[in-house]
Amino acid sequence: MSFEVFNVVRGLHILAVIAWMAGMLFLPRLYAYDAEQADKPDPLRSEMRGLLRQWQRRLLKIIVNPAMTAAWVFGVWMIAIHVYGFGEGWGFLAQPWMIVKLLGVIALSGWHGFLAGELKRIHAGTSVKSGRFWRMTNEIPFLIAVVVVLAVTMEWSFGLG
Ligand code: HEM
Repeated sequence: MSFEVFNVVRGLHILAVIAWMAGMLFLPRLYAYDAEQADKPDPLRSEMRGLLRQWQRRLLKIIVNPAMTAAWVFGVWMIAIHVYGFGEGWGFLAQPWMIVKLLGVIALSGWHGFLAGELKRIHAGTSVKSGRFWRMTNEIPFLIAVVVVLAVTMEWSFGLG
């Protein structure tokens, strides 16, 4: 397996991650604006919510879901290249930085699932989350991403070799 293929997959992985993160950082902002329509009078409220919900649905379906899928596909592809192409074996996954990264990625995927579930609840009128909640939790994915990216680029070993 050539390094060229690996590096192309790595580039595509990073691009998918950029789109995934951008979408996950913007979606809660649309949820906050939606929740903050509660004290506005109709018909302004219904009109604003109609527009905001259309943007929420499109952002999730057109950007966030496909970007997450692509990030996983290219990431798992690189794992396969390490294990089978470069013959490094499954031990590659047991490196401390890789464990930190995968835990962070699972947390990001969980946050994604929560946001997707909330979209359904917001549209059904059953979400109890406030605008303040969405503003306060908005940076969570970015903080997880800081840990994930630094774990990979610095190859943290925690003194374990
Ligand atoms: C979705 C599941 C993911 C999997 C299975 C995965 C797996 C991988 C693998 C195997 C590599 C190659 C590491 C190497 O050979 O050095 C890699 C590179 C990278 N990943 Fe991921 N990753 C995932 C998600 C993410 C996320 C969410 C981020 C950022 C928030 C991220 C950031 C990066 C970066 C920046 C690199 C390039 C590191 C470098 O070349 O120095 N990945 N990923």
